[in-house]
Amino acid sequence: MTGLQDVKKIRLHHLGQAKRAGEKITMLTAYDRPTAAIFDAAGIDLLLVGDSMGNAVLAYETTLPVSLDDCVRATRAVAAGATRALVVADLPFGTYEASPERCFDSAAALMKVGAEAVKLEGGARVAAQIALLSGAGIPVMAHLGFTPQSVHALGGNRVQGRDAASARRLVVDAQAVQDAGAFAVVLEMMPVPLAAQVTAALEIPTIGIGAGAVTDGQVLVWTDMAGMGEWQPSFVKRFGEVGAALRDAAAAYARAVRDTSFPDSAHSFES
Ligand code: KIV
Repeated sequence: MTGLQDVKKIRLHHLGQAKRAGEKITMLTAYDRPTAAIFDAAGIDLLLVGDSMGNAVLAYETTLPVSLDDCVRATRAVAAGATRALVVADLPFGTYEASPERCFDSAAALMKVGAEAVKLEGGARVAAQIALLSGAGIPVMAHLGFTPQSVHALGGNRVQGRDAASARRLVVDAQAVQDAGAFAVVLEMMPVPLAAQVTAALEIPTIGIGAGAVTDGQVLVWTDMAGMGEWQPSFVKRFGEVGAALRDAAAAYARAVRDTSFPDSAHSFES
């Protein structure tokens, strides 16, 4: 029997099959071609061109300033680096909430440069957007729990669904995005029992971040996962020390330039 890891090119139906078979789905963010190609070669199933690029690489405090142009440029680059992985592009803040029509135009811009699906934040309040996109052939991943674009309304980076009323709202929202046609949903920063309840209730896969191991898949921001910075959220594990490796490479280069051992004859045009 073949599993998700044997699939040559990830398509939407493989994700539903994985959920039913109990196989975990892997997702990482990517914002450029080199990292997309590396993660694709590593067998990551989904590449998310996340608006987390705002914090991770564009030096913003939040994801709110990220523009559609930022996401379009990054999506084009990530799509160029991906062969097997399904490329999901984030709809940034301010490009989809006001109306389904506005949402369609923004999503179309991302699909034209290589996105194979889009992601948006919210539950019942964006059900009409999800329905329009799904009906128009644009696959939609939803995002519930802590939704970074609503960081101010949520009172900061806080675990969601801890009290009974907000947990109930979350379950209703999860059902609403599935009913509207979403093919998957990200569950961010919520108690494990709630993530388990939502995962069991839905037919579509759940992809967790700070939601425990009970979801159908996991996503992390790559710069956190690979140890690029000093700090990462408490739910993130550092799976490498890429920042330190890059610093060592840059320092070795600088030493070689200064002591004139680089460029040597092997790296020069002698004639
Ligand atoms: O933008 C992003 O990276 C995300 C993940 C945190 C799910 O939305």
